[in-house]
Amino acid sequence: MPIGDTDCRTLRPMTAGDVPAVMAVENVSYTHPWTEGILRDCIRVGYSCWVCIDDGVVMGYFVMSVAVGEAHILNVCVNPKFRRQGLARAMIRFMFRLAGERGADTMFLEVRPSNMAAVTLYEDLGFNEVGRRKNYYPAARGHEDALIFARAV
Ligand SMILES: CC(C)(COP(=O)(O)OP(=O)(O)OC[C@H]1O[C@@H](n2cnc3c(N)ncnc32)[C@H](O)[C@@H]1OP(=O)(O)O)[C@@H](O)C(=O)NCCC(=O)NCCS
Repeated sequence: MPIGDTDCRTLRPMTAGDVPAVMAVENVSYTHPWTEGILRDCIRVGYSCWVCIDDGVVMGYFVMSVAVGEAHILNVCVNPKFRRQGLARAMIRFMFRLAGERGADTMFLEVRPSNMAAVTLYEDLGFNEVGRRKNYYPAARGHEDALIFARAV
């Protein structure tokens, strides 16, 4: 389905067949990427896993869980070739729609304080910092905290 005024031609649920192409984007996007097994488990347990594809190329994807009134963004990622074109913003707006339809009233996510692009994106979309998990993420040297962000759906 089209998701607004971005270059994204098609946003559709991710299938097991998309996993290799999604993992290629994951691996160039994170210092500590998810494994293929984590991604496959997210699809298997029924999380909202969506991929934005244009002409067979993965432009971006997201994974979100929704349960007991809470939505959690577990992963949102844009292929480096398609960044700064509004795709992440469009996908997150779409997530709000999806979460609302499934009865969530709050959306949460965790982010590394060093991830300037993501922190700016979330603040721009109206998320507020509501907490911090000490030493949550593995980092090049030791560990890094996670900021917890939330916004009403
Ligand atoms: C963070 C990420 C998802 C942003 O994707 P994107 O499609 O480039 O973001 P958008 O084009 O929708 O940007 C929306 C806004 O976010 C902010 N933003 C995005 N990238 C930014 C950057 N590199 N530096 C500063 N601000 C940035 C800006 O406010 C931007 O609005 P503007 O372009 O009008 O200034 C992308 O950089 C990415 O995939 N990073 C690697 C994976 C990751 O860190 N995911 C988040 C994990 S918590």
